[in-house]
Amino acid sequence: MASATVQMKIRPEDLSQVPKTGERIPNPGIMVIFGASGDLTKRKLLPALYHLEQSGLLPKDFAIVGVARRPLGKEFADDMREGIVDFGDVDKSDPKLEEFVNKISYYALSFDDASHYAGLKAELDRIAQEKNIGPDRLFYLATAPEYFAPIIENLGAQGMAEPEHGRVGVVIEKPFGHDLDSARELNHQVNAVFHENQVFRIDHYLGKETVQNILVFRFGNGIFEPIWNRNFIDHVQITASETLVVEGRGPFYEKAGALRDVVQNHVMELLSFVAMEPPSSFDAEAVRREKVKAWRAIPNIPILDAVRGQYGPGVIDGKKVVGYRDEDRVNPESGTETYAAVKLEIENWRWAGVPFYLRAGKRLKKRATEISIQFKQPPLLIFNRMQSTGPCSEIQPNLLTIRIQPNEGIALRFGAKVPNTPNMSVCPVNMDFDYSAAFGTSTANGYERLLLDAMLGDQTLFAHRDGVEVTWSLYTPILEAWAAKNPEVFPNYFAGSWGPDCGNRLLERDGRAWRNNIG
Ligand code: BG6
Repeated sequence: MASATVQMKIRPEDLSQVPKTGERIPNPGIMVIFGASGDLTKRKLLPALYHLEQSGLLPKDFAIVGVARRPLGKEFADDMREGIVDFGDVDKSDPKLEEFVNKISYYALSFDDASHYAGLKAELDRIAQEKNIGPDRLFYLATAPEYFAPIIENLGAQGMAEPEHGRVGVVIEKPFGHDLDSARELNHQVNAVFHENQVFRIDHYLGKETVQNILVFRFGNGIFEPIWNRNFIDHVQITASETLVVEGRGPFYEKAGALRDVVQNHVMELLSFVAMEPPSSFDAEAVRREKVKAWRAIPNIPILDAVRGQYGPGVIDGKKVVGYRDEDRVNPESGTETYAAVKLEIENWRWAGVPFYLRAGKRLKKRATEISIQFKQPPLLIFNRMQSTGPCSEIQPNLLTIRIQPNEGIALRFGAKVPNTPNMSVCPVNMDFDYSAAFGTSTANGYERLLLDAMLGDQTLFAHRDGVEVTWSLYTPILEAWAAKNPEVFPNYFAGSWGPDCGNRLLERDGRAWRNNIG
């Protein structure tokens, strides 16, 4: 396809005029990270906190306490320093780094041992007094999911969940439950201790600028919303494709699989932003209400509209790689899916009859998360008769692609007349907006925004209990059906391919195909 790239370059001096969300600065407080010795803390949370501080968005009096089982001392802060440098793109000689690392300390505790929590409370009080920090506390649960409930219960038992003249919140990492019943039970346990307005169920996809931009794109522009419906749109595809494997998380992934790990949460969040009605404002209640309404309009997904796959050995970036069953700490006869694809519909006035095709997978050909909105084909017979052969031989429908990552941007495909041809030849061309070309590259990892919002008590970009339950209610029957019957032919796709044939058939039977020219 020819590509007419239209770029808008924003000048740095224009950007400096843009007011930063960060003009809101949280009150002095302590952030307590449970499960702090895991990768997330070092790779994402600490680099994000450091960047927030460097942007002047953290209060001066602020402390970070890592909590985990291992007895660690000063080496914890050293490890975090290394994480900030390696994963936060920070120069290790940066003089501000030392000042920041001084705010980090560690407390060893067994998550499910109630007798350890009085000590934690005393330690937080001591730090608060020594550093003159106020009563705000943010508890971040980055542990294995089985510890979420005991930690919450123990915090409650020690009175640590109650705001004493300050703001106290709890951030809960995914997975939030592993099916509808467990999610309901966890919601119940959480809300027995924390008020819903203190709860921040995190989905890091909502921290991505490109995801937030879907709302700006739809509701901040006049020309898209009038055509954003079943009269103009043929179908929607959402792809979350990864080349990576489970990276040392074999035991976790064995229990999760692609549908639980990515589709039920990240992909459904993307879907809600595409499908929701305009909220009355961008505050948490209004946005979350519209998301839940869109999810609730999805009828049960027929089991035949959900397919699964598992990768075998293959080639990625020219290198041979092993199949899933040969990965570290994975059952050699595993029935866990590393690929899932689903077709669903949204039965409301805007979307009835427009299929949404969703897919997520590991070890696919390319890393790309993308939404593509394909518009209906206009009557083109007058052109079809005159088409030539070659790349412009086929007239293609308009296509809007929202590239969530990488190569963040938005492209619109339309037909253009090929110049200097005797016939009225039409060739597809692209208008392309590239985030980094327009705004420069960003080192933000998505957690900056979410951590800041949680400290400020803004729940807009966090899941509500109803939302979590409604998405689980859609996928639990499929997960149960899959669990009841082991897949006959696993592995069923090669690492480095675009997934199994059953994934392709899901669209082929509707006369459509996945867009694999993505990213
Ligand atoms: C996590 C999943 O939630 O999201 C991982 O547990 C997945 O398996 C990751 O790799 C993808 O996130 P991102 O931001 O790299 O697309």
